[in-house]
Amino acid sequence: MALRVLGLSTSPRERGNTDLLVREALRGAESVGAAAEYVSLHGLAIGPCVECYACAATGGCRVADDFQAILDKLLAADRLIVAAPVFFMGVCAQAKLLIDRCQCLWARKYLLRQPLYPDGPRDRRALVIAVGGTKSKKMFECVGMTMKYWFDVLEVRHAASLFVNQVDGRGDILKHPSAMQEAFRLGAALADAAAPTPERPATVELFGPAVPGRARGGPDGG
Ligand SMILES: Cc1cc2nc3c(=O)[nH]c(=O)nc-3n(C[C@H](O)[C@H](O)[C@H](O)COP(=O)(O)O)c2cc1C
Repeated sequence: MALRVLGLSTSPRERGNTDLLVREALRGAESVGAAAEYVSLHGLAIGPCVECYACAATGGCRVADDFQAILDKLLAADRLIVAAPVFFMGVCAQAKLLIDRCQCLWARKYLLRQPLYPDGPRDRRALVIAVGGTKSKKMFECVGMTMKYWFDVLEVRHAASLFVNQVDGRGDILKHPSAMQEAFRLGAALADAAAPTPERPATVELFGPAVPGRARGGPDGG
């Protein structure tokens, strides 16, 4: 059966840089026979975790909005491609809202000691895509730490990352000399069922100006 690859675009900007990259990574996954699904958080209603801890008793989230439908997709996928723009050194708020709502999975795992998959653990892997407008490189450490903790409760192995800095304007990623090709390649590699289980994430960092003179300012010289 074909691997199910879910591409999750979390940016509020449609056809923005991370959105274009996740679509390209999905094309790569499809090129090796995967069943690819694209989902954007844009236009969905996903509120914050309200810290009610109802999940401590049930393992589920009692807040009724679009979260549950996305969670079902996240849990059904064999491979995840998660793309987020960097906002103030971390993932954008839309991504963070979704991640925080997965506290119900944390409750299942660490409070209720319930297996996520009753039939046993699955071989699930993820590719992380993040883009920032400044020269900063540290921002991707923040993204990486958030993903590490999220993937722990999602029971997904962080297989690879694609980090691109100094890309700011909507769609400027298309002017980057290699980012779209890397997204395609990493998407195909993620969906290769025969690829060995990665011990640690393979990280592709594309650091440098894609569009001369366009890097956004920032306090760390960026
Ligand atoms: C609210 C906001 C905060 C941002 N914060 C950062 C930041 O901390 N570091 C950075 O490099 N770029 C920052 N940016 C720039 C975006 O990361 C950049 O424009 C990126 O290409 C957007 O990706 P998208 O088109 O997929 O949304 C910020 C942009 C916005 C709108």
